[in-house]
Amino acid sequence: MRITVIGTGYLGAVHAAGMAELGHDVLGVDVDAGKIDRLTQGVAPFYEPGFPELLRANLDAGRLRFSTSLKEAAEFGEVHFICVGTPQRPGSTSADMKFVDAVIEGMAPHLHQPCLIVGKSTVPVGTAHRLSSMVAQLAPVGEQAEVAWNPEFLREGFAVNDTLHPDRLVVGVSSSEAEATLRAVYDRILEAGTPYIVTDVATAELVKVSANAFLATKISFINAISEVCEAAGADIIPLAKALGHDARIGNRFLAPGVGFGGGCLPKDIRAFLARAEELGVDESLAFLKNIDAINVNRRRSALTLARGMLGGSLSNKRIAVLGAAFKPNSDDVRDSPALSVANALQVQGADVRVHDPEAIENARAAYPLLNYTTDVQKTFEGSELVIHLTEWQEYRDLDPLHLSALVSAPHILDARNTLDIDLWRSAGWTVRAMGRPAR
Ligand SMILES: NC(=O)c1ccc[n+]([C@@H]2O[C@H](COP(=O)([O-])OP(=O)(O)OC[C@H]3O[C@@H](n4cnc5c(N)ncnc54)[C@H](O)[C@@H]3O)[C@@H](O)[C@H]2O)c1
Repeated sequence: MRITVIGTGYLGAVHAAGMAELGHDVLGVDVDAGKIDRLTQGVAPFYEPGFPELLRANLDAGRLRFSTSLKEAAEFGEVHFICVGTPQRPGSTSADMKFVDAVIEGMAPHLHQPCLIVGKSTVPVGTAHRLSSMVAQLAPVGEQAEVAWNPEFLREGFAVNDTLHPDRLVVGVSSSEAEATLRAVYDRILEAGTPYIVTDVATAELVKVSANAFLATKISFINAISEVCEAAGADIIPLAKALGHDARIGNRFLAPGVGFGGGCLPKDIRAFLARAEELGVDESLAFLKNIDAINVNRRRSALTLARGMLGGSLSNKRIAVLGAAFKPNSDDVRDSPALSVANALQVQGADVRVHDPEAIENARAAYPLLNYTTDVQKTFEGSELVIHLTEWQEYRDLDPLHLSALVSAPHILDARNTLDIDLWRSAGWTVRAMGRPAR
């Protein structure tokens, strides 16, 4: 099939290459000409394991190309996937729909053939319905350009696998023709027995935000209990393990620490609540405000623990920060807890040096005043406190004995609870971990 993917960021670039891998003829479109140049040359504009290989293979096979022209997209595609950003609107908690709307305004006037426009971006419920009216008004082909919603659940760091082998496909459609088209697009994935859920468009839009609300709730739940553990001198790690053995609860997303960040969960729960307010059902989602507050508070708790470990003041203290990305295996720093803590430490007078294996370039763009290094040993040199804020495998593999010789004082705060703290302690380090008793 001839497929376009509009918006080639973390979601769209991988989706475009994934659709080409399934055998389709794909045109990826973005307003960022630099990004399109790099993709055309086979250079991934972001770090995502397995993506450079997928991109290169499909460019070489001639099934994948890129452009900045929405007109070209409109003329080429039978199916158009919308994958542009839906960030938090400045000065508000709702989603900013200006990028999605710009795609429809730019593309619809060039739609002369029947086609299916499929939203993948995470949007407030009611968006597909609103876009259908826009398309009907703006497109020469009128209502024969139909709008469907097919929310995306990929995880950065696992995006290639999640695109080619999703744990489910959800399609929200208004006609059997649209459903048949999407079935044809995903033919090879469906053959593998992937669960396939067909709904109306509003339900499909809501599945995505509900999934993210649930995941955020699970993380904030364990972090709330973690705060209680800290106050009571109890230990969140065996507690979480014990909860996770209950099959009704499960151990995934039950990792206590400095909380979630990134370009999805924080803005999605806020936008969900804002939309619920518009619909007059905000009472039902009022708990999401607490979920958000618990999460943001974890960053303050990390700061308080750090200050305590440094004798009550951060002023002029040399601090090594391990991690800048919002999570490992990604260079995405949007709403990163690690950078937010690093920045707060610096604002409060500490001399901070940040390390990350992949995210330094993006981190520097977001927080230009922080000091960065790509050499993890240099981060440790002369530090009075090390704070582990993004759980890269590289940090789990560090040798605490060797590193203790580089620091001014062997103090480490594990804000992700993934280091082997017994190993660090036996190498002479004073270790604190969020939600765990001091020893
Ligand atoms: N990143 C994820 O893991 C993920 C997972 C599931 C869903 N989502 C959702 O997918 C959407 C995109 O997220 P992302 O992380 O890929 O964002 P992103 O910022 O990485 O990418 C968005 C891209 O859209 C482009 N764009 C903006 N306006 C455009 C226009 N008018 N025409 C063409 N391109 C345009 C931008 O230049 C950018 O490259 C969001 O709604 C997000 O919530 C993201």
